[in-house]
Amino acid sequence: MPLLDILQPPHPTLKRSAVPVERVDDALIRLMDDMLATMYEAPGIGLAAPQVDIGQRVVVIDISEEKDQPVRLINPAVTWRSDEIEVAEEGCLSLPGQFAEIKRPAAVKVRYLDERESEREIEAEGLLARCLQHEIDHLDGILFTDHLSVLKRNIILRRLAKQRRVKA
Ligand code: NI
Repeated sequence: MPLLDILQPPHPTLKRSAVPVERVDDALIRLMDDMLATMYEAPGIGLAAPQVDIGQRVVVIDISEEKDQPVRLINPAVTWRSDEIEVAEEGCLSLPGQFAEIKRPAAVKVRYLDERESEREIEAEGLLARCLQHEIDHLDGILFTDHLSVLKRNIILRRLAKQRRVKA
């Protein structure tokens, strides 16, 4: 399975809203497999299609220790959020080495289509709830840095640019 390149800001695809998937076909199944391989290799616990320059509403997640419980979500949408808010540190494969404390609802319900086009709903809390919200944000062109103050956001984006210059 080919590994995909993961985009970093300021790539425009990261800021664009992704379009809903209309048909689950072999190409989409392959895309999700490639996204999972890319995510495991990185390593990470979630990846959204815009991060690999595909403007479709597709997310893959695996928060298991053994990395053997992949979840493929097509057209995921948050249908309920808890009033309770939690703060936890987040990272992102598009912002390598950068982390920040982000406030989010502690629990959510998410409706989506699985790879067999069956409608599903999960209720999640803790890490899975956080990961789902983070990845669904990507489908709307939102990075975790967009939840921060302009000051904190700019510090992270500058650090990232510097990191890239050092590597180049
Ligand atoms: Ni991310």
